[in-house]
Amino acid sequence: MAVYLDFNATTPIDPRVVEAMLPYLSGPAGNPSSVHRFGRAARAAVDEARAEVAALVGALPEQVIFTSGGTEANNLAIRGVAADTAAVGIAVSSVEHASVLAPAARLARQGGSVVQIPADREGRILPEAVRGTLGAGTRLVSVMWANNETGVIQPVAAIAELVRESGAWMHTDAVQAAGKIPVDFAAGGVHLMTLSAHKIYGPKGVGALVADRAVDLIPILEGGGQERGLRGGTENVAGIVGFGAAADLARRELEMHRARLQDLRDALERMLAARPDVVVFGAGAERLPNTVQFALSGIAGETLLLELDRYGVAVSSGSACHSERAEPSHVLGAMGVPRELAYGAIRVSLGHESTAADLDALLRALDRARARLSRAVP
Ligand SMILES: Cc1ncc(COP(=O)(O)O)c(C=O)c1O
Repeated sequence: MAVYLDFNATTPIDPRVVEAMLPYLSGPAGNPSSVHRFGRAARAAVDEARAEVAALVGALPEQVIFTSGGTEANNLAIRGVAADTAAVGIAVSSVEHASVLAPAARLARQGGSVVQIPADREGRILPEAVRGTLGAGTRLVSVMWANNETGVIQPVAAIAELVRESGAWMHTDAVQAAGKIPVDFAAGGVHLMTLSAHKIYGPKGVGALVADRAVDLIPILEGGGQERGLRGGTENVAGIVGFGAAADLARRELEMHRARLQDLRDALERMLAARPDVVVFGAGAERLPNTVQFALSGIAGETLLLELDRYGVAVSSGSACHSERAEPSHVLGAMGVPRELAYGAIRVSLGHESTAADLDALLRALDRARARLSRAVP
């Protein structure tokens, strides 16, 4: 029996979400921009989903711009705020997802001023560190709500307060936080927030940028004026409906899952702590209830991951998007973790289906893998 423990990479679609999507996959056609009854039905479904996504994060429906996922929403936030002039200043945290870091790096190549906000040893971005990077020309600050690798939760509201005082816009990538812990757009004081459906038991290829109307965004995809003119293209109606259904379930069931997952994760950490040479990253910081990233010193994470896979246990060596690359995680690098240890990183992320039996299977596989791999080391 295979055991899936990689829910931060992606989640299975909840069967209730599939149920909600089916009429829009196999039912009558209807373009939300069409004025006839078929179009109006599609528009109503998209608008209902917009309200459900907004409700998950304490935003207004009109603030939700549907995109093709978290990556596009992050690109829209960075490029959309900075597109009108290359001489713009932005600050991004050093532990962001590649879909924030890559457009920021492009902006820097084009002559923009891009500063990286340092993390502390636990992977936290402290407000003092943000203050140090705010300059007169800073237009946007991007600090994620929670990190995909370590699960470390950032003090977003405190950072947003500083950013607001400075007159810049505050963006947060809440892809990993939404649905796992309470996330509030208004109370968090942010101007822009990224979400993705497939991390909350919805379909892949759909996400949103939640955007305060005061932010002067320039679209990266122009066309038929959909999504307030900020994201042209006929809406992915079935995907959006699925996103809405997933957001609605996540809002209603969050507390139930949060408590159970935190208990499971804490039990796993206690069992890991009983083994020699295990280092848990970000252990001193507040973290997502479902995530633990750790290393067995002396064993490469990629090797361990493949070995665990042979025993039927699926985990990640950090960020799924990095798994073909040999470089150790930039997140651990930013935390000052030595390269040798960072190479050993394994991320276990639990989900709704996870059970204590899954953790037993993981630990058994880990012990077998460790025994085999340490024998292999000359
Ligand atoms: C923190 C974070 N931001 C953004 C993304 C990208 O989201 P999507 O897969 O919907 O493009 C991911 C996915 O791994 C993520 O973990």
